[in-house]
Amino acid sequence: MTGVAEETSLPPDPVGDDSAGSACIHAADRRHVWHPFTQMQEYLGLPPLAIASGRGGWLTDTEGRTYLDGNASVWTNVHGHNDPELNAALQRQLASIAHSTMFGLTHGPGAELAAKLAELAPPGLGRVFFSDNGAGAVEIALKMSFQFWQLTGRAEKTGVIGLAGGYHGDTFGAMGAGDSGFFHERFRPWCFPARHFLAPHCREWAGRVRGADATASLAALRELLAGHAATTACLILEPSVQGAAGMRLQPPGFVRAVAALCREFEVHLILDEVFVAFGRLGPMLVCKDEGVAPDFLCLAKGLTGGYLPLAATLAHEDIFAAFIGPYGSRRAFFHGHTFTGNPLAAAVALENIRKLRPLIAGGVLRDRIACFGRLLGEVFSVHPRVREIRQRGLAAALDLAPARDSADEFPVASRTGLQVCLRARAHGLLLRPLGDSMLLVPPLCLDERELGELVRRTALAIDDVLPA
Ligand SMILES: Cc1ncc(COP(=O)(O)O)c(C=O)c1O
Repeated sequence: MTGVAEETSLPPDPVGDDSAGSACIHAADRRHVWHPFTQMQEYLGLPPLAIASGRGGWLTDTEGRTYLDGNASVWTNVHGHNDPELNAALQRQLASIAHSTMFGLTHGPGAELAAKLAELAPPGLGRVFFSDNGAGAVEIALKMSFQFWQLTGRAEKTGVIGLAGGYHGDTFGAMGAGDSGFFHERFRPWCFPARHFLAPHCREWAGRVRGADATASLAALRELLAGHAATTACLILEPSVQGAAGMRLQPPGFVRAVAALCREFEVHLILDEVFVAFGRLGPMLVCKDEGVAPDFLCLAKGLTGGYLPLAATLAHEDIFAAFIGPYGSRRAFFHGHTFTGNPLAAAVALENIRKLRPLIAGGVLRDRIACFGRLLGEVFSVHPRVREIRQRGLAAALDLAPARDSADEFPVASRTGLQVCLRARAHGLLLRPLGDSMLLVPPLCLDERELGELVRRTALAIDDVLPA
């Protein structure tokens, strides 16, 4: 036990109990819904939970129980649920039009958002192609890179390089570029082959690096490029933190070094900031903060503050220029999604960015991040069941283990990580595990007291399932 005491002060319940409605939802869910990344046999044996409403960093279920949203509704939420200003932006747009296509026409929110993203991005990334999810944003960058080399007379440049453990989504191109082990290995025969290089090593929490080494990783990349750059179109990288690999951190300067190698060997650099952008690690965009200008930048998740599905692929003007020509030249980029650049999503994204800027510039977010790191360190750096903490920004992983100083693992069948997350519900906290790692990714709006609650309730759940 880590000395944290139970406390029950929660924000008021905005909806109240609705048990009959709840029973209908669960019946329909259990009969008809196929959930993502879920073994349905296991799911159907677990206590059901349906969310009815949210406010700030809190969610309320159909039974009226309230939970802290410990994974920001899959890493998307920025200013909290039901934010009055985001709601108002959405309602203003709704009063005009909910959807109008970007196939051959445009609309105010889409055009304005494209201009805003180009302004935020490093110089040169001036063209914005909208889609609706992170995997889509990645597919688009990959296809643009592939087509660029064909259009510029270097059709042999078709290969893709990625970082070991990379995750870019679940469509075929995104799976091909990624390296997500058993998530995707079944589909390998249908994916294009990609080469992956060793990930660097870095341990960090509370802003202090506890061991970092990118030498072997960068040497492996140089060797790969020396052997294959002539036939490689692009390198794709999640800069700074590989979220789905379990918050695997890169040492400071790593992204800049990779970018320099890409330039030296004439290989496009695609930065996948689907997870890390929009304040998740502190800055609006990680690449800008690192002083790196990629050829492509992929954005999604936090782009709309976690409100609506919207993604963007930013391309460098030099890439765009290669696609320009008369219709008959067949240089156009033949790719599109029906809801590309949806005006509701674009309007809420603009408001999200407007609200986020002062939080970053005024240091509020920086202070929350520092507080989060300090709290994690206080409770878990000495916890008998936590082998390693990795934290950067408002993103952290706690690796659970039978004993912190041994290499033993829990048996896979014990589903320890899941058991801890289920137990967290009893303490008013929603988390999602990655194997036996607890991933803590709160909405950026949590204040210091709420961040304390997140850490305290996580510890309570771990202590319940794994008493010392
Ligand atoms: C870095 C990164 N890229 C891409 C994706 C895929 O995004 P989506 O689930 O919106 O397709 C994710 C999702 O977690 C991600 O973390």
